[in-house]
This record gives sequence, structure tokens and C-alpha cells, in this order.
Amino acid sequence: MVKICCIGAGYVGGPTMAVIALKCPSIEVAVVDISVARIAAWNSDHLPIYEPGLDEVVKQCRGKNLFFSTNVEKHVSEADIIFVSVNTPTKTRGLGAGKAADLTYWESAARMIANVSETDKIVVEKSTVPVKTAEAIEKILTHNSKGIKFQILSNPEFLAEGTAIKDLFSPDRVLIGGRETPDGQRAIKALKDVYAHWVPEERIICTNLWSAELSKLAANAFLAQRISSINAMSALCEATGADVSQVSHAIGKDTRICPKFLNSSIGFGGSCFQKDILNLVYICECNGLTDVANYWKQIIKVNDYQKNRFVNCVVSSMFNTVSGKKIAILGFAFKKDTGDTRETPAIDVCKGLIGDKARLSIYDPQVTKDQVLKDLSMDKFDWDHPVHLQPLSPSSVNQVTIVWDAYEATKDAHGICILTEWDEFKTLDYQRIFDRMRKPAFVFDGRNVVNVEKLREIGFIVYSIGKPL
Ligand code: NAD
Ligand code: UGA
Repeated sequence: MVKICCIGAGYVGGPTMAVIALKCPSIEVAVVDISVARIAAWNSDHLPIYEPGLDEVVKQCRGKNLFFSTNVEKHVSEADIIFVSVNTPTKTRGLGAGKAADLTYWESAARMIANVSETDKIVVEKSTVPVKTAEAIEKILTHNSKGIKFQILSNPEFLAEGTAIKDLFSPDRVLIGGRETPDGQRAIKALKDVYAHWVPEERIICTNLWSAELSKLAANAFLAQRISSINAMSALCEATGADVSQVSHAIGKDTRICPKFLNSSIGFGGSCFQKDILNLVYICECNGLTDVANYWKQIIKVNDYQKNRFVNCVVSSMFNTVSGKKIAILGFAFKKDTGDTRETPAIDVCKGLIGDKARLSIYDPQVTKDQVLKDLSMDKFDWDHPVHLQPLSPSSVNQVTIVWDAYEATKDAHGICILTEWDEFKTLDYQRIFDRMRKPAFVFDGRNVVNVEKLREIGFIVYSIGKPL
């Protein structure tokens, strides 16, 4: 029986390994992590992450050929294939701070693999890493190897949160990069055989290591670039009377452009787009490609611009002051169908409004009170580093309440900001909400989910990203 071990039981490691276990009953899969709490949650009825369809997959395989454990060394030493899916955040200190990827967790995993291995291993980069990381990992492994052979593969993950199980069941492609030597090709074949249990052969792309590593950064940069492009267009729509949804529809009909990923928003969030573009920028700068670096930097600048623009619009529309006014925040997660708040644009928007002394009443169906308060007390980049958090200042704490119902959040509010596109926000009883709000009642739709005409008929003043006022 082939044995797989995955180091890192996070948003990628957990769902990816659960699907491998489900699709490959002949393979034993162990997912290991240093976080005792996370492993305990994976072994409980309340999985540590919310992802549609994940519970069913885990229930079918856990205890059969899928195991979650903190016994990292045991499972690593027994495995034939080791996936490394640890976090690779942006460096906060030292050389490259604020841009370069922090590979501390990766390096410590690699050193541990070298220490405990007694048989040859295939080591798979699942985390998103800078180009040429495989070379560094190879050095760490071979210089500490006690004669054991390691083959390094790059197998970046392309799943999106909220649709992880669907994406893993039917990926657009699986990418495997490896050395162009006979041993390298054998390792590629071994990993390909795993995916071939359910992924059609033509969707499994094999490349050299550096192409695979760079393709992951490139894919995220291209996706984020589309969002910044349509968001930049949304500002122009508001200035000219064009409607960004109509523009998206019209340009998306061009098969070369395609309709996906053209939804204008308050900006992209999530743990990866910004981190991976910063990483790409840093790599370009290190290679002396200043103009290329500046091109990609602009994607993040437009994203920040979009979040600021939204806050400015709320404050300026509400007569240039939100001081003491109750504002309902509907949605805090970085997108619908996830409880993940890493780099959610809601953090910047809420902080902006708190800075203008608004009172916020926050509702998200999947995000806990503790998580919201933690996020609002963190500095940029702190979210992926274990730091000692400063609690929210006493005055800021008084400005924020977290509630479990959209109607409670909006009661007596002067304005509503929709920051996540949860489906339930489309079908709220807006007449009921309007009747209980202060007048004039404002809606700022940062995700274009509400029916603007209907809300205006009720009496709301509606601001919707990229739409005429
Ligand atoms: P995560 O923070 O949810 O999970 C990482 C886990 O690794 C944590 O539970 C942490 O405790 C564990 N860990 C760190 N060092 C360890 C060690 N030495 N030994 C054992 N466990 C260790 O991160 P994630 O969202 O799953 O992302 C992981 C990687 O995958 C990142 O590089 C990310 O860029 C990439 N990625 C993420 C997504 C996504 O949707 N979240 C999608 C594609 C790729
Ligand atoms: C993204 C990519 O889609 C995945 O392919 C990739 O594997 C992953 O990053 C990663 O490397 O972490 P994810 O961040 O989970 O996945 O979610 P997306 O659906 O890409 O959304 C990212 C952000 O962009 C969200 O805040 C979303 O609301 C926003 N978005 C997305 C828009 O504002 N408009 C759109 O049209 C699409």
C-alpha cells in the first residue's frame, strides 16, 4: 500500500488529502500538523474549516484510509510520498520584509523530513512558494540525508475556498513539475498515478520544476489582475454613468475574454492573492526586472484604492460624518461559502469606518465574534504569524458589536454595508429592514448583490459598486 503523509492540515492540506483518500482507497493518507487544536478538530464532528461537501468526504474515509495526527515524525518516516502544505506567509521582518515569502515553516518541515527519513522519499511542494524553492529544499534534504534519496516535485494547488471539493473532484488541470532526470521522471509518474485515479490524463500537465512553481504565482497574478481591471473600470463607470455589470457582461461575451472573474467588488481578499503577487514582485525585483515588478504592484495598488474608495463613499454620502452612527456590516468573510477571514477586505473597510468613529454591528453567517475582534486588532500581515495581539482599544471595542442575524444588525442603523456576497443577503426582507432603520436609510452594496431598483422603490438611498447613482 502506498503511504502518503501531508504536513499541514490547513485549508489546502485537509481537503486535498481527504479527496485523495476518497478517490484512492488503496492509498493510506495521514495528515499531520503541529497544531494540536487543529488536529483535534479534524478528528471531531466540527471540522476546523467550513467548506461545502467537506464533512461528507471526511466522514467517508476518516479512520479507514484517512488519518489526522500530531505524530508528525512517525507518519513522515513511514510515508513514500510527503506533501508539504504549510503556510508560506509574507515576511514581516528583515530582507524582503513586506514582499518576500517567509519560508521558515517550509524549511523546518524539510529539516524534519531529512532527520526522520530512513527510506527514499518523494517530497511534494503543495504550498505556494517562490520559483527555485525546490532547489533550496533539495539542498537542505540532500545535505542532511544520511544517504537517502529525495526527489522534489512541485504540485501547486489551484482550489478556491468555498468550492474546494468541487475543484478537487474536477480540477481544470493538475500540474506536476519535476527534474528532467530518469529519477525525476519516475517521481512524476508516481504522483501522476495518484491523480489518475480520478483526473483524466489530458488534464494532468507535467513540466519542469521552475515552470510549475512559477505557473502557480502567474495563475494567481492573472486572476487578481482581472479583478483589479474590472474594479478600475467600476470607478470609471461611476464617473460616466456606465454600469459595470453591463460592461462585464458585454466584454465577457468575447470568448477571448470570457465571463468568469469579472465581478466588480470592494476588492479581492483571501490569504493568497496579495501574498503571491508581492512574492512575484519581489522575485522580479531580485532579477532586476523593475518595470515588470511595477506592473504587478499596480494590481495591489488598485485593490487598496478600491477599498479606500468604498469607505470614502460611505462617509461622504452620509453627510461627511459617520461619527456615532450605527452602520450594519453584512458579511465579514473574504467571499461567500467560507468562514475564512484572512485578508478579507471587510477588515480594511471596518477599520476605516471605526477610524471615522462609526458604531459597527457586524453579521456574518460563518465568522465568530472572537475571529472578528481578533482580525480588527491585527496589523497588516500579522494574521499569518503567531503574534501577541493588542486587544482593540477600549473605545474601539465599544464601537463594534457582533450579532447573529442580519435584522438585528440593521435595526436602528443609519446605513448598511454589504461586504460579502452571501446568498442570504439577496433574499432579506428589505422592507422590514427599511422600516426599522434611521432615515435616510443608506445601502452600500460592495458586492452588487441587491436589486437596486427594488430597494430604491422601498426608499433606500443605494450606492452599488460601478453603478449609476
Ligand atoms: P493554513 O495556514 O490553513 O495551513 C497550514 C498549516 O501548516 C497550519 O495548520 C500550520 O499549523 C501547519 N504547519 C506549519 N508548519 C508546520 C510544521 N513544521 N509541521 C507541521 N505542520 C505545520 O494554510 P493554507 O491556506 O492551507 O495554505 C497552505 C499553502 O497552500 C500556502 O502556501 C498557500 O499559499 C497555498 N494555497 C492556499 C490555498 C487556499 O485556498 N487557502 C489555495 C492554493 C494554495
Ligand atoms: C484563489 C484562486 O481562485 C485559486 O485558484 C487559488 O488556488 C487560491 O486563490 C490560492 O492560491 O489561494 P480563493 O482566494 O480561495 O482562490 O478565492 P477566489 O474565488 O479566487 O476569490 C478571491 C477574492 O477575489 C475574493 O475576495 C473574491 O470575493 C474576489 N473576487 C473574485 C472578486 O472580487 N471578483 C471576482 O470576479 C472574483
